[in-house]
Amino acid sequence: MQSNQDKLVTVFGGSGFVGRHVVRALCKRLYRVRVATRRPDLAGYLQPLGRVGQVHAVQANVRHPASVTAAVRDADVVINLVGILFERGAQRFGAVYAGGAEVVARAAVAASARVVHVSAIGADAESTSIYARTKAAGEEAVRAASSDAVIFRPSIQFGPEDDFFNRFAAMARMMPALPLIGGGATRMQPVFVGDVATAIADAVDGKAAVGALYELGGPEIFTFKQLMQYVLATIERQRLLVPLPFPVAKVLAQVLQFLPKPLLTPDQVELLRSDNVVSEAARREARTLEGLGIEPTAIETVVPSYLWRFRKTGQFQNRAA
Ligand SMILES: NC(=O)c1ccc[n+]([C@@H]2O[C@H](COP(=O)([O-])OP(=O)(O)OC[C@H]3O[C@@H](n4cnc5c(N)ncnc54)[C@H](OP(=O)(O)O)[C@@H]3O)[C@@H](O)[C@H]2O)c1
Repeated sequence: MQSNQDKLVTVFGGSGFVGRHVVRALCKRLYRVRVATRRPDLAGYLQPLGRVGQVHAVQANVRHPASVTAAVRDADVVINLVGILFERGAQRFGAVYAGGAEVVARAAVAASARVVHVSAIGADAESTSIYARTKAAGEEAVRAASSDAVIFRPSIQFGPEDDFFNRFAAMARMMPALPLIGGGATRMQPVFVGDVATAIADAVDGKAAVGALYELGGPEIFTFKQLMQYVLATIERQRLLVPLPFPVAKVLAQVLQFLPKPLLTPDQVELLRSDNVVSEAARREARTLEGLGIEPTAIETVVPSYLWRFRKTGQFQNRAA
């Protein structure tokens, strides 16, 4: 029988926020890991996550099919974690989330590898957000290439390098107020990136239902306003919370989108018009973290450990301890 040490997993986007947690989880389970990214030179920090020679990085761009074919050669499982938060140059949502997903899934099937694809809650062909529409098109392309593919849709993810809590804590440090986009009523179900990585590694192990679509959320649902209040309480700062109606937020985002790393884009405003929570259908059918036997981690367990640096005193006290 083949042991995990004989199995190769190619992880597209393995150098990203979610990717590093997935690579760590796969290393613990002794898989050989090939990280496929446009800048493998920047992925050197992943090697210490495994034993000598267990992790290596190769150059691949999901917009260039020949590089994808080379990256999946001899792989047993292919994971797609490629992501962009905003469009720049040739990195368009359609090219990365729809076209790229199709190229990766087809190449994986041609190499006789199983496919694990990461999409997002909110993927919807009818959405007003391009991100959400192209995520839906990506899921459809993956399903067309492989009816056995396991697809994960996480809600917003938290963890030390996340883009959500860190971003708003940084804004609160600099600014007298935080915006409540659309009034702050959008519901979210933040999920720990480590739990998402465990679910993905379980799918690689073959523990997920073949051909299933899982929705991954944390143990609690919050409104956007409650999350802003939580950030402020955690970093012990008092700031105004200013409701910004969607049309006003959109105008502001039209300007902010031109920053090198935009604080807000018009498409992100569109995304915030819909709740980002696990659907009733997924819960009923146990296509969730709990359905995989994973107990979701609460934000209070993890977030204070990395937001402490935004406090005035800069001292970390674990309130849960
Ligand atoms: N973070 C969240 O809260 C969240 C929530 C729900 C769903 N997701 C989904 O989870 C996935 C991973 O997200 P993340 O937060 O880890 O993103 P991330 O930190 O931005 O990482 C994205 C990864 O994709 C790679 N990449 C980007 N363009 C590429 C291309 N054209 N070809 C090959 N690789 C490319 C990047 O490496 P290079 O730049 O070196 O190529 C990087 O490794 C995405 O599909 C995202 O939509 C994330």
